[in-house]
Amino acid sequence: MKVLFVCLGNICRSPTAEAVFSKLAAEKGVMSQLEVDSAGTNGFHIGQSPDPRSIQYAAKRAIDLTPLRGRQIERADFDHFDYVIAMDNENVRQLTALCPASKQGKISLLLAYADRCNYREVPDPYYGGAREFELVLDLIEAGCRGLLDQLVGDGLVPHADRLQARKHV
Ligand code: 4NP
Repeated sequence: MKVLFVCLGNICRSPTAEAVFSKLAAEKGVMSQLEVDSAGTNGFHIGQSPDPRSIQYAAKRAIDLTPLRGRQIERADFDHFDYVIAMDNENVRQLTALCPASKQGKISLLLAYADRCNYREVPDPYYGGAREFELVLDLIEAGCRGLLDQLVGDGLVPHADRLQARKHV
């Protein structure tokens, strides 16, 4: 299963989502069945590290963003990835404009997967401060937990269940 997270710049929200989702998937033992990446709808930050504030607030939760680098979404991504997960409605609009009609069903909002969440979008924290960056992390964690539960429901096999299944062979 291949999952691509998308925001505007690929230096705040979507790299955070990539790292949070990868960490949750590793904890569940399903990372080997996943490919996870992120991209921006614009190309302002191609090749750049995530925003230092995103790195700092993620690190407080033991999430490492430092290996990630910005890139821009390409049309080929809609072929390659099974899920293209946007942070806000403007991302969805940009993605929909770029995506071939037959692949539009791959696009969704991250917080559509979050359980009992008051937000529909992950707000852009770029011009915000500590509160905005912490909120981004809280919302992304909620969305990623829900998305992972859905993927496991759709057939990803958690590590403990794989071991259990092997015992019964
Ligand atoms: P992101 O945040 O879309 O979450 O990566 C932003 C990063 C950069 C800019 C805007 C939003 N910018 O205008 O450069």
